[in-house]
Amino acid sequence: MRLRDKVAIVTGAGQGLGEAIARRLAEEGASVVVADIDYQKAREVAKGITEQCHRRTLALFTDVTDGAQVRDMVKKTVEEFGRIDILVSNAGILLAHEITEFPEEDWRRIIDVNLTGYFLCAREVARVMKSQRSGVIIQINSKSGKKGSYKNCAYAASKFGGIGLTQSIALDLAPYGIRVNAVCPGNLLDSPLWVNSLYDQYAKKWGISKEEVRKRYEQQVPLGRGCTYQDVTNVVVFLAGDESSYMTGQAINVTGGQEMR
Ligand SMILES: NC(=O)c1ccc[n+]([C@@H]2O[C@H](COP(=O)([O-])OP(=O)(O)OC[C@H]3O[C@@H](n4cnc5c(N)ncnc54)[C@H](O)[C@@H]3O)[C@@H](O)[C@H]2O)c1
Repeated sequence: MRLRDKVAIVTGAGQGLGEAIARRLAEEGASVVVADIDYQKAREVAKGITEQCHRRTLALFTDVTDGAQVRDMVKKTVEEFGRIDILVSNAGILLAHEITEFPEEDWRRIIDVNLTGYFLCAREVARVMKSQRSGVIIQINSKSGKKGSYKNCAYAASKFGGIGLTQSIALDLAPYGIRVNAVCPGNLLDSPLWVNSLYDQYAKKWGISKEEVRKRYEQQVPLGRGCTYQDVTNVVVFLAGDESSYMTGQAINVTGGQEMR
């Protein structure tokens, strides 16, 4: 238990990677706030974690693009648990189009959730962490935060921006003992994003089967497989704990080496 008695907030924790991170932080001993725009799912995840990991949880309806709701998330966390040690800014969306076909409202929505949402959560949490003179902020970024993404410009722009934000607030907050880092996962080939949407889209676009789509993506990875939740949560726990106490402003690739190809 490397995070015993820490208090963590995970945004977008109602499913997918956020759910896996919330569960892992609890397994490592943390109390966890499960925040999501899907309150029903957040409640189910929080209940499951409490039952299985015997840690305290709090489910909250929070839209990370709404400053008032983010303030409320932070206020309720402090009321319930007394402090905030870890923020994992995970909530993110992906809407992909070729540049000349890109609707302005989709562009704005992606920047709003992926970049402004991270800014709002980090700002509000940092106010509490500054008074504690300790804390850790972790952004879930992407390999698309370091390398352009085909027909996916808004997502890549939002994630590149997230690395600029990570580095800059790491500088602002270092004097207060607060560390800020990002994790850049590769393709989570078993996540709902892929299973419910991307395999289908790419299979149709390229005229191949979903299995062939998966194989194509696995072949892009030097280590020969997709990224798993555990690959990412291992690094999140490392960044959240004292073993990374000399690291701030970093964006760590968890890609099986894919960014080198
Ligand atoms: N799936 C992948 O292959 C992959 C790869 C690299 C990085 N990532 C990143 O990991 C993170 C999680 O991705 P995922 O695949 O688990 O996504 P997902 O769509 O499965 O889950 C995202 C969660 O965020 C919530 N959410 C969406 N908008 C929100 C908002 N405005 N406020 C609060 N919650 C909101 C959703 O309700 C959902 O529960 C994202 O930041 C994504 O960019 C994913």
